[in-house]
Amino acid sequence: MKKFLALLLALTMVFALVSCGAAQTTKTTAPAKTAEKPAEQTGAEETEGAKETLIMATNATFPPYEYFEGEKMVGIDVEIATAIAEKLGMELEIKNVEFDTIIAGIETGSFTIGMAGMTVTEERLETVNFSDTYAQGVQVVIVKDGSDITSPDDLAGKKIGVQQGTTGDIYATDDFGEENVSKFKNGPDAVQALVSGNVDAVIIDNEPAKSYVAANEGLTILETSYADEDYAIAIAKGNTALLEKINTALEELTADGTIPAIIAKYIPASN
Ligand code: ARG
Repeated sequence: MKKFLALLLALTMVFALVSCGAAQTTKTTAPAKTAEKPAEQTGAEETEGAKETLIMATNATFPPYEYFEGEKMVGIDVEIATAIAEKLGMELEIKNVEFDTIIAGIETGSFTIGMAGMTVTEERLETVNFSDTYAQGVQVVIVKDGSDITSPDDLAGKKIGVQQGTTGDIYATDDFGEENVSKFKNGPDAVQALVSGNVDAVIIDNEPAKSYVAANEGLTILETSYADEDYAIAIAKGNTALLEKINTALEELTADGTIPAIIAKYIPASN
């Protein structure tokens, strides 16, 4: 009986191998979950009718760039990406992920682009490329009304809240020391910590800061800002053909007024 079972097993394995071989022309040791591999676009655009997918990674806790209105993700980045994808004849797929996983995911090919009010930095440029700049960002300091922190210089020795992996995190850690920086998953969590007195200040981008302050009583943004920066689209180092297409699309969408209109819709000129 044992022998029979062993034979049966051996036969099953042979069949499994054969059918495996038929399905996979190149590798025999490919993992079983081939279907879940991130879509690599090689040749996909040649298939008739099939649109290449632009997989955009973002972190939708960042109004007015990306946030949820009910079930729907909206914002400047969402609309600009939609316009770019349309111009390039691509299908846009947006993935809402933790901010500090975006760059790594671009490197490994899980995401085609990162668009998340993302600041161009020298350090990030070592691992990814950035498109031309499409918006300006400013790192500001949020404190409680009446705080003794009245300018960024007063932050020394204070507890500073930031969104993990952002430039606010990186600069604050550099300037004030790891031990003084509390890292949160997203901006709203950092702001909540400020409201409940667990941190003394939050360093974060200006536009989201305005909405967080508007949504919470007793908070204020310091007049003196902390850093100025440029936002751009991150893309894998090797993907220079798409980078060029995206830059051309950005240029055209700026020239024809599309991008200025999107930005004006979310950031009224009065601000
Ligand atoms: N501009 C900052 C950075 O690039 C913060 C961006 C955070 N974006 C977001 N969608 N949460 O590090």
